[in-house]
Formats: sequence, structure tokens, C-alpha cells
Amino acid sequence: MGRENFADRRFFIHTFGCQMNVHDSEQLANIMTEAGYEQTPDVRQAKIILVNTCSIRSKVAQKIVSQLGRYRRWKDKDPEVIIGVGGCLAQHWGRDMFTKTPYVDLVFGTHAFHEVPQLVDMVRAGHGPVMDTELREEIPSLGICTAGKNGNGKTKHHSLVTIMQGCDNFCTYCVVPYLRGRERSRPSAEIIREIEALVKQGIREITLLGQNVNSYGRGLPEETNFPKLLAMINDISELERIRFTTSHPKDLTGGLVNCFGRLKKLCEHIHLPFQAGSDRVLTRMNRGYTRKDYLERITALRQCCPDIAISADVMVGFPGETAYDFDATLALMEEVCFDNLFSFMYSEREGTVAVSFGEKVPEKERNRRLKILQELQDRHTWERNQALVGKDVDVLVDGASKNDPQELTGRTRTNKIVNFAGPPILRGKTVTLNITGAYLHSLRGELKSPAAINVHKSPEVILGRKSPEVILVQK
Ligand code: SAH
Ligand code: SF4
Ligand code: F3S
Repeated sequence: MGRENFADRRFFIHTFGCQMNVHDSEQLANIMTEAGYEQTPDVRQAKIILVNTCSIRSKVAQKIVSQLGRYRRWKDKDPEVIIGVGGCLAQHWGRDMFTKTPYVDLVFGTHAFHEVPQLVDMVRAGHGPVMDTELREEIPSLGICTAGKNGNGKTKHHSLVTIMQGCDNFCTYCVVPYLRGRERSRPSAEIIREIEALVKQGIREITLLGQNVNSYGRGLPEETNFPKLLAMINDISELERIRFTTSHPKDLTGGLVNCFGRLKKLCEHIHLPFQAGSDRVLTRMNRGYTRKDYLERITALRQCCPDIAISADVMVGFPGETAYDFDATLALMEEVCFDNLFSFMYSEREGTVAVSFGEKVPEKERNRRLKILQELQDRHTWERNQALVGKDVDVLVDGASKNDPQELTGRTRTNKIVNFAGPPILRGKTVTLNITGAYLHSLRGELKSPAAINVHKSPEVILGRKSPEVILVQK
């Protein structure tokens, strides 16, 4: 292949949205690479700019359109540049994408990622703007994202693994079921094979992905469910940590709660969105649980696993949310004291049921409520983090800290970021740290004793014990 041709095949991917999108982009990068294209981290080098989009809130959509406007300038300078828009917003707008952003050459929906190389070829062959937004019954498995290739969301030791696609819940505010299609679980054998392959490449931690992982297995010919899948994954040797997202409270069974006490590799953290603290609002949202149900599940989780960290999503200003309803949300937060909370202002989304609901909450009031809620959460996050000071925690080391490259950073099993001083050799290892400081977004730790680095379960590291206090770490 000539030099010029080579440059022509460089692509750049910009990802918006949730972890599912991050993972879809990783897979898209693999598909493109296998088709002979080459990924570049520098958009100025790319002839193909692919934007993987999100449509969850109108502000996200606006941000994406502004970004596309910036990419248009590259195209103005170099007409050979192809701009492709894929994922949820592309699925939502379909053909309108070409009128709203007329410089776009290619629109691919949430089920068309595997087709992108062919679609790009069609654009290049002069077939004009090309679109594939069909929602398919069966989406081909997009294959395994290898650690080396993917440059995934977090680190070389962590990987995202899709266990199910789509969503059947139809919460009245949410576009996802319309954009990602019906819920489909992947066969467990396929998931296990993927994780085994990842572990062979050095992955130590995985996050299982789905809009509602708790209903995993529904509709599969095999007799399985989410706790059974977790138990199978827990048996994969050399895998250290299992996480999952997202859990839906209505499908959180006792069997899953027990997994937290039973499965050693399952990290002590659950992301369990509650959305609202008032039953009236929960019913209008079609969430399928009450405030009492939610709090009972939190109690069960804490009984089974007292140190579990709990995070959630919440929304303010859903149509009809009164001051009284909002107080119920704050009261639920006081009761639970979440470790972390992702809070959103309700955003009206075309095509959803809630569009027809009256009693819209004015934007100014939605803003006011969000601010109050976030201040309360900051207090809770601070308290939960402070409670860890003086404790010993296991941290899987990601690598150099972003703020200070001399320092290392990693995550606790409870998904908290810890920064500490230590040798780079610890990257990818699990170490025990004593927590010496706690802030809103991170913790500070110290290796138990600089001479006594306790490296857990790391096959590449040979541990030699010189004296009871000193453990040597060698490569
Ligand atoms: N499947 C996950 C959530 C996916 S969307 C679940 O059910 O928990 C992530 C979060 O975005 C949601 O939990 C919700 O809090 C928020 N969200 C979804 N639609 C929204 C809307 N129309 N306006 C504001 N926030 C929204
Ligand atoms: Fe949206 Fe509800 Fe499905 Fe989550 S469970 S993706 S909020 S419809
Ligand atoms: Fe956004 Fe689609 Fe995820 S709408 S939140 S990218 S499933």
C-alpha cells in the first residue's frame, strides 16, 4: 500500500455518552482496524471522523451538534474527509441528521456498527450520503476487544464486557428502548470465552455492561440468570475483580444481593439508580418499584455486605414533581447516604411518553432543585470518604496519577480513586494502602510500609519473604 493510501485510511473516533458507547467505540475501532483502516488519536491526521453519539438529554445532543460543527471545518479544508455519525443520536434523528448537519456523509445507527467499513467504502465510491439505522432482531457479536488494541475506557488492566443489549423497561422519560431496541442477552458461554481471552491478555478487572444487568438471561434458551453468570465468572482464575452496571432496583433479587457476600471477586460496589424518592413520581416514571422497595434493597445489601459502596442516578424536575416530592428525594438521600450520585435535570425527549405529561417544572426551578441536591450529595460523599481515613484498603493500581505523574493512582474495590507514592512497577498490581486523607473526588493513601509492598495475586511478580516485615517485589 502506498504512503498516500495509508494516510487515507486513518480514522478518528470521538465518543459521547455512557460506558456502553465507550465499549461500542472500542469495538468499532477493532472492526475498522480489521478492515485495514488505522486509528489515529489526532483528528488532524484523520480522513475519516466517526462520532459515536448519545441522545439521553437535549444538552448532550446540543454538545454533539456543536462538536460536529467544529469537525465540519476540517472537511471545509480537506473535502476528502468523511464525517460519519453513529450511535444513539444518529438512531434518534435518522435521516434528519442530514438536514440538521448537512455536511455529514454517513449515518449509522446503534445496530449498524459492524457495517461501518462497508458504509465508508460506499461513501468513498461516490454513492453520496449513506445511512443504516435499521434496528435488527439479531446483532452480530462484535467480537472481543483485546487489551492491546482497544485503548479502552480505563486502563490496560480493565475491560468492559457487554452481557446484554437493548432495554425493555420503557421508563417514561427515556429514549434508550427506542434507540437500542429490545433487550437481548448474550449466551453465557460466549461471555465466558471473551473474559477468558481478556484475562490471558492481562486484564484483571472487568465491568459487565447492560442497561439492566439484573434481568440477564431472560429469553435465552439456556437456564441462567445474572447470579449464575456472576458465579461462573467468579471461577475464572487470574481474574481479580468483577463489577457491573447498571442494576435496576425492580429486578434486584435476593440471589443477587447474596452474591456480594458469597463471590470473592465481586467488588463491594453497586450502582443502583433510584431516580426519585416519591412513589407518585416513580409511578409516573414507570420504574416498577416503590421508595420502600428501594430502601429495603439497600438494607439487604448492607446486611449482606456492610462495607458496600452505593452509587445511583437521580433526576430532578420530572413533570409533576412537587416541592413535596423533591423533599422525598432529599429524605431518601439522607437515609441512604450514597457514596456517589449522578444527578440530572429532567430533559424532555421527543418520542417518550413523558412528553405528554402536564405540570412541567420550569427550568429555573429544576436548576434550583439540582443545586440543593448536589450540595447535599457533596456532604454525603465527603462523609463516606472521611470514614475510610485510617483504614487499610486494597487498590488495583492503574498507573501514573493524572495530576502528578510522579504519583500512582488506582481504585479501591468500592470504586474510589486513591492517589499514593509508589514505584511504577506496581502498575497493574493490587496493593494494600492505608488511607491517610479523603476529599470529594479521591482519597490519599500510603503503602503500608514502603519496604513491605504486599502485592496480591500477581503472577508476573515473584514474592520473596526476607523477614516477616519485608516482602521483596521483583519483575
Ligand atoms: N439503564 C440505566 C440508565 C441509563 S441512562 C437505568 O435504568 O438505571 C442514565 C441516566 O440518565 C438515567 O439513570 C437517568 O437518571 C438519566 N436520564 C435518562 N433519561 C433522562 C431524561 N430524559 N432527562 C434527564 N435524565 C435522564
Ligand atoms: Fe432507560 Fe429505564 Fe431502560 Fe434505564 S431502564 S435504559 S432509564 S428505559
Ligand atoms: Fe446515551 Fe445511548 Fe448510552 S442515549 S446514555 S449513549 S445508551
